[in-house]
Amino acid sequence: MLVILIISALWFIIPAYVANASPVLISKIKTTQRYNRPIDFNLKFRNKPIFGAGKTWFGLFFGILAGTAIGFIQSFSGFLPMTILLAFMLSLGALVGDLAGSFVKRRLGLKRGQLAPGLDQLDFLLGAFLFASFVTKISLIYLLILVILTPAIHLGTNFIAFKLRLKKEKW
Ligand code: CTP
Ligand code: MG
Repeated sequence: MLVILIISALWFIIPAYVANASPVLISKIKTTQRYNRPIDFNLKFRNKPIFGAGKTWFGLFFGILAGTAIGFIQSFSGFLPMTILLAFMLSLGALVGDLAGSFVKRRLGLKRGQLAPGLDQLDFLLGAFLFASFVTKISLIYLLILVILTPAIHLGTNFIAFKLRLKKEKW
């Protein structure tokens, strides 16, 4: 029973995970680097970056595209429920949540890439649930399961990305 709940919760959140992870990959492609304009256009708020250079337009659009595309594939796999609208909202919410997390980090004076335990791992998850709640009835059990599992998964995948030299930080 618990296993089924965990699998269902992970299935539900896949578009958000993909949306959150794909900007890291795309940011490494040399030809895309000139499109990597910061979302905040390098503007500052009270002498500190609004979001910082780690949040780009290309990352935003590619993340939404990748998360929605995965959701589209999920939707006709017939395994568990998924809709393209839900996948889009999960992806958009993940990236907006991630932006909000960076906004908070910059206000706290943390530099791009500096560790913010809890915030780094959960900002995108909470954003995804918030946006998903606009188009579907969200399950608090899924939320609970994912709040527990996501930090471990996030740290694990980021460490792999670090080993593959896709990321500069181990987290
Ligand atoms: N990224 C991007 N656009 C986004 C989100 C992420 O281009 N909207 C890319 C950036 O290359 C970023 C990397 O993905 O450096 C990793 O994302 P993340 O860890 O969220 O950003 P950080 O660089 O750690 O910045 P912050 O301190 O603001 O979290
Ligand atoms: Mg980071």
